[in-house]
Amino acid sequence: MITYVIEGGTPLDGEVTISGAKNAAVAIIPATLMVKGVCRIENIPQISDVSVMLNVLKSMGASIQTVNGHTYDIDCSNVDTCSVHTKERIRASYYLAGALLGRFGKGVVPMPGGCDLGDRPVDQHLKGFRAMGAEVSIQNGNIVAYGGTRLHGAGIYLDVVSVGATINIMLAATLADGLTVIDNAAKEPHIVDVANFLNSMGANITGAGTDVIKIRGVEELHGGFYSIIPDQIEAGTYLAAVGAAGGRVLLKNVIPKHLDSITAKLEEAGMSIYENDDSILAERNGPLKSINIKTMPYPGFPTDMVPQLAAMLCLADGTSYINEGIWSNRFRFADEYKRMGANIQVSSKIAIIEGSKEITGAVIKACDLRAGAGMILAGLAARGQTVIEDVYHIERGYEHIVEKFCGLGARIKRVIGPDKTDFRGAV
Ligand code: EPZ
Repeated sequence: MITYVIEGGTPLDGEVTISGAKNAAVAIIPATLMVKGVCRIENIPQISDVSVMLNVLKSMGASIQTVNGHTYDIDCSNVDTCSVHTKERIRASYYLAGALLGRFGKGVVPMPGGCDLGDRPVDQHLKGFRAMGAEVSIQNGNIVAYGGTRLHGAGIYLDVVSVGATINIMLAATLADGLTVIDNAAKEPHIVDVANFLNSMGANITGAGTDVIKIRGVEELHGGFYSIIPDQIEAGTYLAAVGAAGGRVLLKNVIPKHLDSITAKLEEAGMSIYENDDSILAERNGPLKSINIKTMPYPGFPTDMVPQLAAMLCLADGTSYINEGIWSNRFRFADEYKRMGANIQVSSKIAIIEGSKEITGAVIKACDLRAGAGMILAGLAARGQTVIEDVYHIERGYEHIVEKFCGLGARIKRVIGPDKTDFRGAV
């Protein structure tokens, strides 16, 4: 078993470089299935969700050359199968469906996995595929889609603002015959990044980043070069870590605009934030103030930052309220924080956090990607030692997180083997 062992109480100090955006990379990599030629993609994060996606493409016959740890040459010209066989389950596997429908007009893809945040339906994805002429069914745990040799354009109104459905329909529409209009589209930065990638390979997509995206189908996509945007949630995580542990950290390779809702809340909580073109300096010396948060689709406050802010707010003066607007199971971290002495009450989609003077280290278990990241922040802020189990959740989406925190002076180590200090059974 691999655990993270953290000795809390040390303020952070130094610089950290933010990696490429996970949620852009796990969409752009399958999108290369639609390209005839070599895509050189830069700033790909070294995380397990990316490794899984690259291995799936390789299993389908793609040629993938490593240029360096963050840059790959991906050539899917010789891929001749539209069925995906993998035991691995990640949320983003559904993008393979949109890409295969775009390339071949059909696809068989395993139903997605990913974090257990409650019900994670794909009905809006399927609604879009069907509107473009595909017959879609769920069979034996797979999404089975068949649209003849080529889909046709359509007008699609999303009943729910969905990142995945917006991207997946954009993929399927890129090589379809005619115009597709996505109404009520999600506007996250990674959606714009996927559209920019496709356009750099010859697609004709306008409106990404607004709630109406127009995709004019083209005959084919050519190879080219693309660099993935920085990960705004990784950046937000390190900013919240300064809030939790105190100190002063410079984040490099960020797009401050993408973090507006996050930095606004951190300043409201009493942190000092200084923005430059591609960097952010964050500082917290004094006490934290309690704040209220409501999560919304972008540009609202992101649900993927809730566990990180909650860890910080466990030490704020007063009572904070978090109203979760996206996932029914976002607060799974609360019970783990309570083991550290935090005072959190959860009812349905509301968490009420009574700030306390301190929290103490404990043995806790990561239960999803962002909850695991929040637990690191809680461990950094706690008095004593924290051991985090099931850290594979964290390593799905954070590149070299232990090394990056060590570079900021945190006392954290990645321990391989049975944990010798397991208090979980202590009475
Ligand atoms: C993406 O998930 C992200 N994952 C999630 O980040 C993120 O929390 C989420 O967007 C919201 O920002 C990836 O990009 C791989 P949605 P996704 O479709 O696309 C409902 C992380 O930590 N819905 O925007 O699955 C759904 O139930 C991960 O990096 C439908 O009802 O999310 C939810 O309530 C965790 N029908 C809401 O929409 C559908 O067909 C938003 O979901 C699709 C979604």
